[in-house]
Amino acid sequence: MSRTVYVNGNFVDEADARISVFDRAFLFADAVYEVSAVIGGAMIDNDAHLARLRRSLDALGMHMPCEESRIAAIQNELIRRNALDEGAVYLQVSRGAADRDFKYPKNATPTLVSFTQARRIVDDPVAERGIDVVVVPDLRWKRRDIKTVGLLAACMAKQQALDAGADDAWMVENGMVTEGTSNNAHIVTGEGGIVTRQLGNEILHGVTRAAILELSHREGIDVQERAFSVEEAKAAREAFITSATTFVCPVVRIDSQPVGDGRPGPVTRRLRQLYIEMARAEAARSKSDAVAR
Ligand code: PDD
Repeated sequence: MSRTVYVNGNFVDEADARISVFDRAFLFADAVYEVSAVIGGAMIDNDAHLARLRRSLDALGMHMPCEESRIAAIQNELIRRNALDEGAVYLQVSRGAADRDFKYPKNATPTLVSFTQARRIVDDPVAERGIDVVVVPDLRWKRRDIKTVGLLAACMAKQQALDAGADDAWMVENGMVTEGTSNNAHIVTGEGGIVTRQLGNEILHGVTRAAILELSHREGIDVQERAFSVEEAKAAREAFITSATTFVCPVVRIDSQPVGDGRPGPVTRRLRQLYIEMARAEAARSKSDAVAR
């Protein structure tokens, strides 16, 4: 079924959406993006996604193309027009179109694009069985905290994982895990605490990661924010990933080696459950707010 997408002020059929060949997203990956989960027709933690969008734009000397509330209205209108119940809303801002030149153009108008993708998130069978990851070198640039559309190294790592019969890759730099190709990486120690890499330029500051750390604190689960090695991950009791499109998903094998007993573990399952409850509560609140308006 054809979707309605948003391009620069217009809601159009995806077949009719047009972007200039001179758009800097196309020529230089000079664009940033966000992916927000949708559950029960409502976005989850979208304010945090829009705050990170602003941070990414700031880092590249770009401005928000419009007020956050206007962006959220566009996202919600896309959800409505596409009757999206569960999945994601993708949002991208590029510096705009200008004749090809490395320097930032002075007067380009930012390009704002958004579209929806339907997918199962809550009752995802992959989260039930857990995923296999392989370890690959991190070939990305040094500002991974900026959520740019320059994702080719991540695509290469993902494809390498699939070619090896796994589901995803954990990227490694100087022997330490940075993150998954499109998710943050976490392990559970023998004592039942969580270890996850500290924030910095080496990883994306995940919105789901932040929510899970908050939930862990509330649950009395110990959290250490520090780098961990591949060896430590392989010897961990549990491992999992977080992202807007997977929530909390168990990692049951690393380089074909079972993590713990090779099945999703209790800490991971508990955090996934808690996060789903939180997301459902937020969706219910958004729905009742929308009815009240
Ligand atoms: N990816 N690390 C990387 C490299 C990511 O691309 C993502 C998200 C995350 C998790 O961030 P968050 O919890 O805010 O979704 C971590 C999105 C889902 C994507 O590119 O499709």
